[in-house]
Amino acid sequence: MEHLPQEYRQLFPIVQTHTMLASCSQSALAEPVSRAIKDYHDSLLYMGTNWNEAIEKTESARIEFAKLIGAEPDEIAIVPSVSDALVSAVSSLSVFRKKHVVYTEMDFPAVSHILQAQSDYNVSVIPSIDGELPLEQYETHITDETVLTCVPHVHYRDGSIQDVKAIAAIAKRKGSLLFVDAYQSAGHIPIDVKAWGVDILAAGARKYLLGIPGMAFLYVRKELADALKPKASAWFGRENGDGASYAKGARRFQTGTPAFISVYAAAAALSLLNHIGVSHIREHVKTICADAVQYAAEKGLELAIASAGEQPGMVAIRDERASETAALLRKKKVICAPRDTVIRLAPHFYNTKDELRHAIDEIAEIALHM
Ligand SMILES: Cc1ncc(COP(=O)(O)O)c(C=O)c1O
Repeated sequence: MEHLPQEYRQLFPIVQTHTMLASCSQSALAEPVSRAIKDYHDSLLYMGTNWNEAIEKTESARIEFAKLIGAEPDEIAIVPSVSDALVSAVSSLSVFRKKHVVYTEMDFPAVSHILQAQSDYNVSVIPSIDGELPLEQYETHITDETVLTCVPHVHYRDGSIQDVKAIAAIAKRKGSLLFVDAYQSAGHIPIDVKAWGVDILAAGARKYLLGIPGMAFLYVRKELADALKPKASAWFGRENGDGASYAKGARRFQTGTPAFISVYAAAAALSLLNHIGVSHIREHVKTICADAVQYAAEKGLELAIASAGEQPGMVAIRDERASETAALLRKKKVICAPRDTVIRLAPHFYNTKDELRHAIDEIAEIALHM
């Protein structure tokens, strides 16, 4: 492998038989993650109850995610999904006088669904310009009346990366909180919430975090969390479990019993990611994607990305019949995630340059016969 030892690749049985390039949707299952899922299953099958162990795993997952993004464990809530994370965050803003929230045209659709349903707020969208979101757009559309600005760290459709630190500085200057959707970045692009000045951030378990669906992480900066009053909060978000008052820090954003099986998986997956180190993963993924971009161009394929900015960790190829192409690729054991008119090739640290080239060869071949 380009930057990482071969032993890591061997943790993923599926790469022996398939070209697995769908990390933007569901990454490959690693042996240690599979064992963790089985541990949860077996503890129910053979021991009957596993509450205390499950609570410990929940804390391990929290600690590992905090480490991954440069936060404190008390700044992390365990929630069911990224959508739920945003619902909780928005539900906590009534302590502020300001009533304007803003999101971007490049956010995942769920962000729009959630915000447009907030009848107590004036909601507006930051439009992209030729498929990009220059910083001037934030300067223009975040106003002194904005209480919350929502942005994606990485665009779900083409993998483009936003300068969160610069956006955070603009939001701060205008007096707006910043919510970062890091579902498409956490696990392959380094994140430092403190250095960047992020107020709130969410990421789910099943994409680049190597886990399975059923849980997500919500980071809320500690001093901020203690001032917020989420309406979506219940016994897992209370002091001492059943207490009437909110728990300290981000835990107050929790509601009911977490999906423990997903928590077991996430704890094992995050421990593996932190062991390898996201900066090493980024170097590897960046290198193989840069090669793939050039190779795709040589093969006459059109890339979906607008900018020539920082190298994305995804190769997005324009294809009017993306789902059909993806189904044909699947028959050839190439697994990728199509999205409307784009085929997304989304590698992780277990992929190689040759695998990406192989997928591109197959796409070019399919294009010839369509
Ligand atoms: C960037 C981004 N945000 C949010 C979501 C939705 O996440 P969830 O289903 O956990 O609410 C997705 C799902 O693909 C996504 O890619």
